[in-house]
Amino acid sequence: MPVFQIDDFEMHYLDQGGPEGPALLLIHGFPFDSSMWEPQISALRDKYRVIAPDLRGHGASSAPEGVYSMELLAEDLRRLLDHLKTKRVILGGLSMGSYIAFAFYRKYAELVRALILADTRPQADTPEGQKAREDLAQLATNEGSRAVAERLLPRLLTEPTREHNNLVVRWVNYMIQNTSIQGLVGALRGMAQRADSTDLLPQISVPTLILVGERDILTPPADAQRMAELIPGARLEIIPEAGHLSNLENPQEFNRILREFLDSLPKP
Ligand code: MLT
Repeated sequence: MPVFQIDDFEMHYLDQGGPEGPALLLIHGFPFDSSMWEPQISALRDKYRVIAPDLRGHGASSAPEGVYSMELLAEDLRRLLDHLKTKRVILGGLSMGSYIAFAFYRKYAELVRALILADTRPQADTPEGQKAREDLAQLATNEGSRAVAERLLPRLLTEPTREHNNLVVRWVNYMIQNTSIQGLVGALRGMAQRADSTDLLPQISVPTLILVGERDILTPPADAQRMAELIPGARLEIIPEAGHLSNLENPQEFNRILREFLDSLPKP
């Protein structure tokens, strides 16, 4: 896995597929890592270059202290793209990955060719949501990442996935438990203070695909519907038999729609 040094931390990232093809930058959710995009990378790398970083504090990247604001995480991505000498990218994120995509688009819209917003929402946290983040940060600090995995898993994956898809359950568990405590706490506090992005949506002027698992209880289809109404020309797709991690729970359908969207984009 290549590594890129950004000030006080090392960012590890995947960079696969044809260097000639249009570049796609995929941003993982919380608290996962670039490996969550493996089903998409396998499906796309014949034609697209896919860049997928481990965000600061996640996966193999190091975990500097501090609050990981969405703007800071977006700035890390901007530095990575500079390092790779990549100009405009198709930007995709799942959940927290899309919170970061909103921050990136707000500052660097000219670098974005298209957007893919999966299992996410534009609203900021409510006070109750912020409190739940802080409770989870305390749980991480006092009891470790395993306790965090136990708390999160039932809300991330549907019951059929948890009962019958041992590979995905183990994979998600592994990613969560592999996240450092500083990474968990830094991202939780960053998400808790993130700005509301609803006002940004009508200003989005690039082709946008919105995907959501039909049984996503963390960022439900109603949120996706609302985003689709606010982003001019956005396409909304509901992924059957999937919860919050729709790209892992139903990769066939997710990839089919993603591929169709990517192939429909105007050539650079
Ligand atoms: C994620 O998957 O990134 C998280 O569920 C986002 C969140 O907790 O708001």
